[in-house]
Amino acid sequence: MKLAVVILAAGRGERMNSALPKVLHKISGKAMLQHVIDAASGLKPSRIIVVAGRHYKEIKDALKDSNILFAIQKEPKGTGDAVLKARTFLEGFKGDVLILNGDAPLVTAQALIKFLGLHRKNNNDISLVSFVAANPEAYGRIVRDESGGILSIAEERDATDAQKKITEVNSGIYAVKAGRLGLLKEIRLNTLKNEYYLTDIIGIAKGKGCKAEAYCIGSEDELMGINTRPELLKAQQAYRKRLINNWMEKDITFFDSDSVFIYPEVMIGKGTTIYPDVFLEGKTKIGRGCAIYPNVRIIDSVVKDGAVIKDSTVIEGSVIMAGAVVGPFAHIRPGSEIGAGAKIGNFVEVKKSTIGRRTKASHLSYLGDASIGNDVNIGAGTITCNYDGKEKHGTTIEDRVFVGSDTQFIAPVRVGRGAYIGAGSTITKSVPPKALAVSRVEQKNIKDWAVKRQLRVKSGKLKVKGVKKEM
Ligand code: UD1
Ligand code: CA
Repeated sequence: MKLAVVILAAGRGERMNSALPKVLHKISGKAMLQHVIDAASGLKPSRIIVVAGRHYKEIKDALKDSNILFAIQKEPKGTGDAVLKARTFLEGFKGDVLILNGDAPLVTAQALIKFLGLHRKNNNDISLVSFVAANPEAYGRIVRDESGGILSIAEERDATDAQKKITEVNSGIYAVKAGRLGLLKEIRLNTLKNEYYLTDIIGIAKGKGCKAEAYCIGSEDELMGINTRPELLKAQQAYRKRLINNWMEKDITFFDSDSVFIYPEVMIGKGTTIYPDVFLEGKTKIGRGCAIYPNVRIIDSVVKDGAVIKDSTVIEGSVIMAGAVVGPFAHIRPGSEIGAGAKIGNFVEVKKSTIGRRTKASHLSYLGDASIGNDVNIGAGTITCNYDGKEKHGTTIEDRVFVGSDTQFIAPVRVGRGAYIGAGSTITKSVPPKALAVSRVEQKNIKDWAVKRQLRVKSGKLKVKGVKKEM
């Protein structure tokens, strides 16, 4: 049977008190609405229709899938009116329509599949998912008859005192036979809020003898709706816990689950250890047997097997090959590749550069727009001077070069294979293979200089503040 999905995302989101449309607020780096779309996509529907309001353009631009259909609800006149707006895309559609709230992002494809299965097995006209809420005030209550069948949904504002005590609530997930969508037109304006409540469809359907059922099949952690920032934070925490539990089942070791953020598209290989305060963002891929130490942020990067990322390191848009060691306090900027077994140590910044196998830059360096070969030693304080104020230039350092400490390469410049650079050099010209390049001024020692100076102080020719006595 065919399936269409309608996602409601046109509400004001006033309780968020934010300029950003509510459904674009993020959970682990992904917009709430995108979470809902991804879960719905797991059911392979024939179409997904998002009902959006005046933020339509912003919402459309934020979504990665261009196959989404947009229905516009200019004025947020309630959830019932919102579904009606999607009907233009459902003309002649025969099958089930799954309706989801754009502000309930933690639902999974598996839960939706299970729900749809129940809806179809029981041949219901309309079904919904309910759950038991710790604080049910923010939700519509499920009102049942003595035999346990659903009668209606009562929103907090309209509920009687007895109904307010009900803890089973509406998740906002419905399945409706397309042929029954006409019931939407029978929803009357709720004058208390000046909105058409989708929830009224249950009472209407029951009144017409339709088969309706509510399935209490999920937990609050999966079905909660988000109207406020504290709720967004609660959802973020629940989502993070879920992801970390999944990773623990896949042989990943954590020392703390509360401070580690792993974005949904991140991949991690078996046997990897992740310390506290780590952020793995975007499409980052971590290999097997890696160690990611505290305060590390890795964005859209690949870290291959056995690599070690030490404390307080940032890696963006780069590749760290197997067995490399990066950090502590290193910054690997976009477009870099750190070779297998290489070492990038403390206070080293690498930008748009390739670093060869087993090459070491252990301390205090800037390597930008550089191509550095294998088995190179980069001494402390090496700087590639890649910018002339207008343009960027490259530095090429071939295999087995030894760069002494405090060297500056004035790019563009090339250092041939096996060459040596004397410490403290400013390299302005290319260096042939196997040569030694030194550019510093020769050292000069002036004999007894200090003794002569002291004599001048004594004779009063040289006045030095605070020096009274002979050394
Ligand atoms: C709604 C349900 C409530 C349920 C809860 C689950 C109604 C009347 N109430 O309440 O029973 O327990 O969700 O989280 O349906 N929207 C539109 N257009 C509108 C109004 C809302 O598209 O005119 C969208 C919102 O963007 C949101 C969703 O519909 O994604 C739900 O709207 P919201 O105002 O948050 O409803 P709740 O008060 O949470
Ligand atoms: Ca809501």
